Amino acid sequence: MKVLITGSTQGIGKAMAEAFVRRGDEVIVHCSRDLEKAERVANEIGAAGAVTADLSDLSETVALYGKTGAVDCLILNASVQQKECWEDIDDESFAWQINVNLRSTLKLMQLYYPAMKAAGFGRIVTIGSVNQYRQHPELGMYAATKCAVLSLVKNVAKFAAPYGVTVNNVAPGAIETPRNADVTADPAMKAAVEAQIPMGRFGLPQDCVGAVLMLCSEAGAYITGTDMIIDGGMRL
Ligand SMILES: NC(=O)c1ccc[n+]([C@@H]2O[C@H](COP(=O)([O-])OP(=O)(O)OC[C@H]3O[C@@H](n4cnc5c(N)ncnc54)[C@H](OP(=O)(O)O)[C@@H]3O)[C@@H](O)[C@H]2O)c1
Repeated sequence: MKVLITGSTQGIGKAMAEAFVRRGDEVIVHCSRDLEKAERVANEIGAAGAVTADLSDLSETVALYGKTGAVDCLILNASVQQKECWEDIDDESFAWQINVNLRSTLKLMQLYYPAMKAAGFGRIVTIGSVNQYRQHPELGMYAATKCAVLSLVKNVAKFAAPYGVTVNNVAPGAIETPRNADVTADPAMKAAVEAQIPMGRFGLPQDCVGAVLMLCSEAGAYITGTDMIIDGGMRL
């Protein structure tokens, strides 16, 4: 299958890309601007291609479809987050997080869905967050975008189902990726997060891979409009 994974030059996206390549899929690696980095990662893991598109920019988001063409599996993993108290969220921060996390999700679904519908087969997976369910003092806006994406997933899933296209969300908990490097590098901060996780540890990017692979395999054929939470119990 042909698979596009947004934000796949590092972290969870890269782990998913590696797993799809191992499965024998034709994978396209994506990041915002650094094409050399995307190509380096694609070469390293044996992916079929590398593309860039800054998903905060509407025209670049729309142009992404022209760069990849239709795909069988669309994994919408790229996101941004700005840590700040909800009282400090300004228009710029609001627009940035809404545009990358929510607007690009809608746009890319609109662009890639018609070919899936025409083919009678497609898999769309969005990557959410445990913050859909938990309240973090500095991630209110980020959480709001992830909740909005989940709502969109459920709506699109219902109306895409008759055409063989499944749409699901996979919500990681605290995962050791470059995004969290400042926290995981500080023993006290790391321990404070681990204390909130019933399994007592951060997840690894690989922990998020199985659910996405399953949703994009025969085993996931009858699963749509759902939210799979991979968090070591953190939301409980
Ligand atoms: N790590 C966690 O603890 C955790 C927890 C819950 C949910 N998640 C979710 O899991 C997903 C992956 O997280 P991660 O920690 O692996 O992320 P990460 O290490 O921060 O990597 C993010 C990826 O997204 C790309 N990206 C960022 N901004 C972009 C933009 N404007 N346009 C296009 N691409 C952009 C990055 O490419 P560039 O380098 O080019 O920017 C990079 O490839 C995200 O949706 C995140 O919200 C993560």
